[in-house]
Amino acid sequence: MTERPAWKALAAHHRKVRPLHLRQLFAGDSLRGERLSVEAAGLYLDYSKNRVTDETIALLVRLAGECGLAERIDAMFSGATINVTERRAALHVALRAPEHEQILLDGVDVVSGVHAVLGRMAAFCEDVRSGHWRGHTDRPIRNVVNIGIGGSDLGPAMAYEALRHYSQRDLTLRFVSNVDGTDFAEATRDLDPEETLFVVCSKTFTTQETLTNARLARAWSLRKLADERAIRRHFVAVSTNAEGVARFGIDPANMFGFWDWVGGRYSMDSAVGLSTMLAIGPQHFRAMLAGFHAMDQHFRSAPFERNLPVLMGLLAVWHSNFFDAQTVAVLPYEQYLKRLPAYLQQLTMESNGKHVTLHGVRVGYQTGPIYWGEPGTNGQHSFYQLIHQGTRFIPCDFIGFCQSLNPLGDTHDLLMANLFAQTEALAFGKTQAEVEAEGTPGWLVPHRVFEGNHPTSTILAERLTPDSLGRLIALYEHSVFTQGAIWNIDSFDQWGVELGKVLAQRIAPELERVDESELAHDSSTNALIRRYRSMRRA
Ligand code: F6P
Repeated sequence: MTERPAWKALAAHHRKVRPLHLRQLFAGDSLRGERLSVEAAGLYLDYSKNRVTDETIALLVRLAGECGLAERIDAMFSGATINVTERRAALHVALRAPEHEQILLDGVDVVSGVHAVLGRMAAFCEDVRSGHWRGHTDRPIRNVVNIGIGGSDLGPAMAYEALRHYSQRDLTLRFVSNVDGTDFAEATRDLDPEETLFVVCSKTFTTQETLTNARLARAWSLRKLADERAIRRHFVAVSTNAEGVARFGIDPANMFGFWDWVGGRYSMDSAVGLSTMLAIGPQHFRAMLAGFHAMDQHFRSAPFERNLPVLMGLLAVWHSNFFDAQTVAVLPYEQYLKRLPAYLQQLTMESNGKHVTLHGVRVGYQTGPIYWGEPGTNGQHSFYQLIHQGTRFIPCDFIGFCQSLNPLGDTHDLLMANLFAQTEALAFGKTQAEVEAEGTPGWLVPHRVFEGNHPTSTILAERLTPDSLGRLIALYEHSVFTQGAIWNIDSFDQWGVELGKVLAQRIAPELERVDESELAHDSSTNALIRRYRSMRRA
């Protein structure tokens, strides 16, 4: 990678542009803000406040060409085995393809299967939402509890919060993910089993946390319903593992399937979105899929210089590999997107947190950065200080909407004024001369200087809708894909989560024993286990 001509040219170019300040870049080009922005697929991306010139973009696009990004995109959309270590396609784009389209996998169209499941989901959701689906004691369902973790939780939980405005308000949605009993206890403490439906969501149906919580849910339901037959009316499953679902005791008629070519973190628009659909209804869910699809088409067809996900992915590479950025802050100025940073953490870090190339060779460059964030303006009163005046280089994504879903007084203008102000302050800062001109005492001047030159990208959309949410999520999915293609890594496997799982399985039975000689870990782990053993019962 680092030997590629475009990479070398970027390294040389970086030495040239690194000393440039955004103040200079803007002063030298009065149209920079308009020029370095792209509007496509319903989103407006302003990337002018990044430390780039036209040459930077041209070189990054050249790098994308040298890395075969176009061929990789074609491979993904045509169902090639791009998840090489798991020998699978990564065909989440088929989940939102319109019904008339065909996408062949091993010669078989997968789109018709997708729409068959969507049809079943829609019928089920209509039944529950209308009160036609009754609980075991003939009461309507008022509460839906999604049990899942990782991609089987974060997508539905994020989407439910994001689209709460469009949800059926007399239906309570809860999400249980953690194997910490507190999660289940707090999520169910005020619910009535007679009115509660559990959606057990797990691609593999083997995940320890999910199966443990599903067993708790079963016991919790049966304590009141006291009849095994009640499970049929109060439990549905979302999975690729029909056998596992049946073994657990959920009627296969109550299972909504998906496929191994859907990665967990790319699954919120598959049957994993069942709880989202229960909340917002099939029509809104389909609008969300249409939004995803619009971005897919843009990603597949737009030239790289005008391609939103490609530009965002290339900027992430520019920041990570040439400016040594360790992190990216995602800052949605939209309360409904409060779970977006958590969702993006799995999407980005489970995808691109890899240390070897597709061929298993240790990479000689940084891969996926750390994603983190909080909704604005809350973050402003907490960690923005460090972004403005700390010593670290932190590129930020700002996300905002021009129309509020809850226009109360002038709150939306204030919210957006803060977004625009932050990107302005981060880019241009406040010079020593400006601080002095305000009459600041000399000793205080250094403390009040803002160096600026902090890169930001701003994504604006008209309004938060199911459609615009779909576009936004697909934007990030494909940006992650672009980064993975440049770094030549497998963005669709997650072997890094395995070791901890195996060790936990080994340790769990050891916690109950009191026999000291049984422990054969390192001295630290042994001491921690011994201490826990001695104190675990109050
Ligand atoms: O442990 C990581 C992981 O495999 C994620 O990739 C996945 O989203 C999550 O666990 C849940 O897996 P499942 O849906 O199979 O329960």
